[in-house]
Amino acid sequence: MTMDHLIVHEAHNVAMRDTPQHFYDKQPSRGSYIKNKDQYTEWYNQSINNPEQFFGNMAREYLHWDKDFTKTLTGSLEKGDVAWFLNGELNACYNCVDRHAFANPDKIALIYEADDEKDNYKITFNELLTRICKVAGVLQKWGVKKGDTVGIYLPMTPEAIIAMLAVARLGAIHSVIFAGFSAGSLKDRIVDAGCKVVITCDEGKRGGKTVNIKRIVDEGLNGVQSVSHILVFQRTGNPQVPMTAGRDYYWDAECAKQRSYIPCVPINAEDPLFLLYTSGSTGSPKGVVHTAGGYLLGAALTTRFVFDLHPEDVFFTAGDVGWITGHTYALYGPLSLGTSSIIFESTPAYPDYGRYWRIIERYQATHFYVAPTAMRLIKKVGEAEISKYNISSLRVLGSVGEPIAPDLWEWYNEKIGNENCVICDTMWQTESGSHLIAPLAGAFPTKPGSATLPFFGINAAIIDPVNGQELTGNDVEGVLAIKSPWPSMARSVWNDHQRYMETYLKPYPGFYFTGDNAGRDHDGYYWIRGRADDVVNVSGHRLSTSEIEVALSEHPAVSECAAVGIADDLTGQAIIAFLALKNEEMEHPANPEDLQLLRRELIMKVRGSIGPFASPKSVIIVEDLPRTRSGKIMRRVLRKISSNEAEELGDLSTLANPEIVPKLLSAVDAQF
Ligand code: WTA
Repeated sequence: MTMDHLIVHEAHNVAMRDTPQHFYDKQPSRGSYIKNKDQYTEWYNQSINNPEQFFGNMAREYLHWDKDFTKTLTGSLEKGDVAWFLNGELNACYNCVDRHAFANPDKIALIYEADDEKDNYKITFNELLTRICKVAGVLQKWGVKKGDTVGIYLPMTPEAIIAMLAVARLGAIHSVIFAGFSAGSLKDRIVDAGCKVVITCDEGKRGGKTVNIKRIVDEGLNGVQSVSHILVFQRTGNPQVPMTAGRDYYWDAECAKQRSYIPCVPINAEDPLFLLYTSGSTGSPKGVVHTAGGYLLGAALTTRFVFDLHPEDVFFTAGDVGWITGHTYALYGPLSLGTSSIIFESTPAYPDYGRYWRIIERYQATHFYVAPTAMRLIKKVGEAEISKYNISSLRVLGSVGEPIAPDLWEWYNEKIGNENCVICDTMWQTESGSHLIAPLAGAFPTKPGSATLPFFGINAAIIDPVNGQELTGNDVEGVLAIKSPWPSMARSVWNDHQRYMETYLKPYPGFYFTGDNAGRDHDGYYWIRGRADDVVNVSGHRLSTSEIEVALSEHPAVSECAAVGIADDLTGQAIIAFLALKNEEMEHPANPEDLQLLRRELIMKVRGSIGPFASPKSVIIVEDLPRTRSGKIMRRVLRKISSNEAEELGDLSTLANPEIVPKLLSAVDAQF
């Protein structure tokens, strides 16, 4: 049974869970910001019926504006010309750092939990301001100004946060590339964004291993003329790491020459704050464009109201800043509210499975936010470690990136939350900028496996994918779409607004299409069933099967291939690649050792082209792929066969080569 089925099945049996009394008792103010369901409903209705007034007030309350906006909202989803907070000017760095550094200079902004616990340290808001200004000074000297793009390829260290905010301080646009991406993926993103400067480090440290970050940068940027300067943070200080004269400069040496304060450059609310590349069904990754005003407001409001985050709380997002979760909930959300954020460089397994719990105990973390995949790992191998630590400071447990199955929800609630916490299953996307559907901690009951109700301003709709009509009322199943604009929605795809329109706004005119299947149950609660397209979610990492296919088909032996996602106990979904070899290879079947070698080579090909996190779990070599009469590969058949659901293959009448099915079945059997 797949996870999707499990969730559909359980949806109707699951009882509501009230907020545990301890959640309130543990809080300094002994109450949540949103008191109850009635207050949520009242605010929600205001946010939908009068978004201009609702978000206009919120924007003035939670953000500092250098120049007030003159109109709160214009444009429509039909036209794809949405704009919020028109003519307003602000600076994201000022909002996240300066104003807190002036009010509370000695408050801890970042808690660095390094790969090796001996290297941990904390940074106050005042120190953070100085460190950001110095990097901003270096970038300014190199000519970075408002509207320029700067690439950041750094592991999860304070320097990644400092680099992002230094770019934002100058009104420039950051484009963070997850430090697990290969040289080729890095290059594609840097070239597409047109970055003139890249910020990176010599080597990374993860799980006790050294990662050759700079070597990947050198390989990726070889021949990329547009990059004039590279700023290199010396994470390990290995003198062997090569530096290119006239292009590469050390972070510390350059910062030492800079002043401790340089002013912020206010930008228009609709100017881009950052790009973040993400995978879709087809084509190359898209540079999703987020704006300074709307994005920052979405980050601040969801962090405050979903997580019920109070100023004295300590927020621990275990995700990497290379993905949207790190952007919104390790950096912009907590810091815009002036709350301490833990920056975790390592893995839950290093040096042992007690790592997360030690961090929570050490810093008295109140909020823990992680992908279900990490929970599955702990549940499987690391449960014994939990009781060694006192993690009773926790009040909110967040889940993100993939559906959390009800049994894992229960485990999270009991084993980590001690039934004293609120579980916030938060459904959102790179493109949404901040939470779409999520509980507001303390405001209303939750349900294991459901992301519950839409956030303020999220006019959620379930659409029948067959006729494109909205399904009103409860107890409906379809695809999830959003009916009106919200402040933190992506405004465009970098350099390709048409693609933005086609991917998100044209499939159902008048709606933003999330790409997810979802249902609304009899209580109006939402259940996310997984993607409706060819996007796969492996350990919370979003991947496109077409990118994997492109990587595989570059191998000289491969004639054709198809990659599919199937349910996996540990990683949520896993990738299975089916491929047919070129004729000459098929005619002389290789011996099993050669085939094994070839499979390994193909996996290495994907690792090399995209990154290790995209590795297929299995590579299955077949004679031919199932195809329709028009020659289209029937991925559904491959998905069912590899999910052990051959009895549910469905209608095969459109299959041009039905004789292939038994062969596929035996190839899969031989592999697993
Ligand atoms: C999936 C990650 C179920 C969904 C923040 C979405 C989820 C995609 C949840 C976006 C959740 C995210 N329950 N599915 N709580 N959160 N997803 O852009 O399919 O990396 O469309 O953003 O992850 O992935 P992305």
